[in-house]
Amino acid sequence: MQLLKDKILKEGRVLSDTVLKVDSFLNHQIDPLLMKEIGEEFANRYSDEVITKILTIESSGIAPATMLGLVIGAPVVFARKRKSLTLADNLYSSKVHSFTKNETNEISVSRDFLSPDDNVLIIDDFLANGEAVKGLLDIAQQAEANVIGVGIVIEKGFQQGGQLLREQGIRVESLANIKSLANGQVEFFD
Ligand code: G4P
Ligand code: NA
Ligand code: NA
Repeated sequence: MQLLKDKILKEGRVLSDTVLKVDSFLNHQIDPLLMKEIGEEFANRYSDEVITKILTIESSGIAPATMLGLVIGAPVVFARKRKSLTLADNLYSSKVHSFTKNETNEISVSRDFLSPDDNVLIIDDFLANGEAVKGLLDIAQQAEANVIGVGIVIEKGFQQGGQLLREQGIRVESLANIKSLANGQVEFFD
């Protein structure tokens, strides 16, 4: 997606050989017009599928997932990272280990919002090692929902997540796929 790649080149900051900071439009401040285009692009890529539910994880997956939900008219469910008082039981949950942060979080989704009737598309902002997506897949599986695929805003193709998911036969669509962040430069695959 050219608009997204241009935005990354213009506003992204390479923090290290593995980390890209995109706080000005995705992870802190949000660019609603870009998010709208991102929602439309996900809808186009998955226009051959009937999606009944979009599943993401708080916090940075919510904006792109919601824009897609607006385009296709499907509800968005976000996995929570902390248990709320009103969300104490009746949950699907899964453990997600972040290599970046070296911590494990339990993520959870209420059983009220995912069912075996659902055709689920998983959305997230970044794909690195794929741990967050694996947790969301686990939750969808617990609900016996059908997973159509995964939509990612920025894939870091030099890390393992995308390959691991595709090897399992899971459809992964990423709107920008980064080949390298070496020498402070962002390089994309084709
Ligand atoms: P993984 O799920 O693919 O294994 O990724 P990892 O554990 O490494 O990622 C942990 C958090 O860091 C996630 O956000 C993920 O989106 C984010 N992340 C991973 N690589 C990058 C990167 O290069 N740049 C940026 N900006 N973020 C990255 P999170 O902790 O869930 O936070 P948020 O969703 O509340 O923003
Ligand atoms: Na993030
Ligand atoms: Na995320």
